[in-house]
Amino acid sequence: MKNLNEVSKDLTADLKKVISLADLENLQIKYLGRKGLINSLLQSIKKLKPEEKKNFGKKINDIKTAIKHLIEVKQKKLLYIHTQKDFIDISLPGKQYQRGSLHLVTYAIEEISEIFQKIGFIRMTYPEVEWEYFSFDALNMPKGHPARDDFETFFIDVPASRKNGKMILSPHTSSGQVREMIRVGKPPIRMINIAKCYRPNWDTTHTPMFHQFEGLCVDEGINITHLKGAINYFAKEFFAEDREIRLRPAHFQFTEPSFEPDITCGICLGKGEINGIKCRVCKSGWLELAGAGMIHPNVLKAGGIDPDIYTGWAFGFGIERIMMMKEGIKLDDMRILYDGDIRFLEQF
Ligand code: DAH
Repeated sequence: MKNLNEVSKDLTADLKKVISLADLENLQIKYLGRKGLINSLLQSIKKLKPEEKKNFGKKINDIKTAIKHLIEVKQKKLLYIHTQKDFIDISLPGKQYQRGSLHLVTYAIEEISEIFQKIGFIRMTYPEVEWEYFSFDALNMPKGHPARDDFETFFIDVPASRKNGKMILSPHTSSGQVREMIRVGKPPIRMINIAKCYRPNWDTTHTPMFHQFEGLCVDEGINITHLKGAINYFAKEFFAEDREIRLRPAHFQFTEPSFEPDITCGICLGKGEINGIKCRVCKSGWLELAGAGMIHPNVLKAGGIDPDIYTGWAFGFGIERIMMMKEGIKLDDMRILYDGDIRFLEQF
C-alpha cells in the first residue's frame, strides 16, 4: 500500500517537470512501459496473500487509469501550446516594410536627363569645386567685371593658381561649357551639364546650394531657331503640351545675343488674369524660366573652337526653380527641399 502512495506522489512531481512532448513520452514509459512502475507493481501481486490480491489489483488499475488520464490531459495542453507558437493567421494584414524614396530633386534630374537624351544630348557633371577661370574668365567675364559681383561667390581658402585664379564653389553650371568644348575638341557638341551650384543666399526662393542644368550645342550653322526649338521642346515635355515659351532680350557676358526665356504661367495659361482678376502667380501671364543665348565668340575661342566656322547656343536653368513652377508640386518655400523633413520628402 505504501508503494502505491509513493507512485502517485512521484507522478505528481514528475508531471510538473514535463515541458515537452518528448518529456511526456519518457514519463509514459517510466510508468506505463513494459518494464514500467505499474507493471512491476502488478508483478508484486504474486507475493500477496489471496485476500489482499483483489483489493491491491483494483488499486493498481485505478492508478493506471488515473495516470493515463493525467498523461492525456498533459498531452492536450502541450499540443495546444505547440500549435499556438506555430500558428499563422493568414487572414491578418501583412507586415509593412518601410520603403525609401528618392529626393524630389533626384527625380527632376532623372526626368531632365531623359528629356534631353531623347534629342541626342549627353549628360555630364562638371566640378562643384571649380577655378575662377572656368566660372568667369573663360566665359568672357574679365577680372573686376561687375557681372562677377552678381554671383557673390564662395571662395575656398587655398592659394590661388597662377593660371586659373582662385578656387571657388561653382556658382553656376556655365563653367562646364568651356570644359566640355576642351573635352570634345571638335564639334558637334550636345551636352547637358547637371550639377550642384553654390551662392550665399537664403530665402524662400534661394538656398546656398542649389542645382542647375546647362545646355550646350555647338556645330556648323547653329542659330537662334535651334535654341528656341530646344527650349520649346523641353517646356512641353517637362511642364505640359499647352505651355508656350518666348525669348525676352537680356544681357549675359557669355552670350550674344542673350535672352531670358519665359514660359506661360500654368495657373492663368498666359492670360495674366483669371475672371478679370490679375493672376497672383505671374501678374503678366509669363514666368521667367532660364538664361540663354548664342555663345559669345570669345567663349568658343576659350574652348579652342573657331567662331568663324562654328556657332552654338547655351542655356542655364535652375532645377529647384522650375520644380516650383511645375504643376502638381506646390512649393511655396524652396528651403523645405533641404530641411531633411522626412514627412515632406516621403510624399514623392
Ligand atoms: N549662368 C547663368 C546664371 O547662373 C545662366 C545662364 C545664362 C546660362 C545664359 C547660360 C546662358 O548658358 O547662355 O545666372
